[in-house]
Amino acid sequence: MTRTFVFLALFAANCFILETSCSFQSRNIIRFTRVFGFSWENCGKQGDAAQMKTLKVSPDPIAIPGHLTAEASGTTSVELTSPLSVNVTLKREVAGLWVKIPCIEEIGSCHYPNICDLLDQLIPPGQDCPEPLHTYGLPCHCPFKAGDYAFPSSDITIPEIELPSFLTNGNYKVQGVLGNSDGELGCLDISFSLHSQN
Ligand SMILES: *[C@@H]1O[C@H](CO)[C@@H](O)[C@H](O)[C@H]1NC(C)=O
Repeated sequence: MTRTFVFLALFAANCFILETSCSFQSRNIIRFTRVFGFSWENCGKQGDAAQMKTLKVSPDPIAIPGHLTAEASGTTSVELTSPLSVNVTLKREVAGLWVKIPCIEEIGSCHYPNICDLLDQLIPPGQDCPEPLHTYGLPCHCPFKAGDYAFPSSDITIPEIELPSFLTNGNYKVQGVLGNSDGELGCLDISFSLHSQN
């Protein structure tokens, strides 16, 4: 699993991967949701240090709660050290236009100034990394050494997630930009559609 995949799990996909319960403050409802047409691409500038090489997620649609199979690989040419920032831009298609969703309760188009701290809060240092990271000897804390990372095909249980009420049915695009004090390190675009049943 690449660190990019960890960020994806934590921020872009809103806690789909780690089996922690993701709860938000107000008016969130547990819904049976399906995620259709997941796709991704790198959007980094030439010379960006971190790149996703493969990212496969199945089935299509993905059910929440439910099970998915995920596989990922990526590379970074520099060591990724604290502080690492992630800037997320979340857009929803409204009448054919892509409209930016603001940052609400840490979900949406948010700036996370130091995801190393967030990782340390989610997974106390000294504790084993959550499965299946632990099995594959993949790290879950900063720093992440330069090199190639591979997360072999694994079954992941998606718990019931309280989706914020503003995440309505429709087409979404998420862009995540990873950076440090020197600037951009990598960029990932993800697209999907959400269909919830109330
Ligand atoms: C992320 O957003 C902040 C605040 O808008 C900005 O200062 C920073 O340069 C951005 N980082 C990257 C890597 O684009």
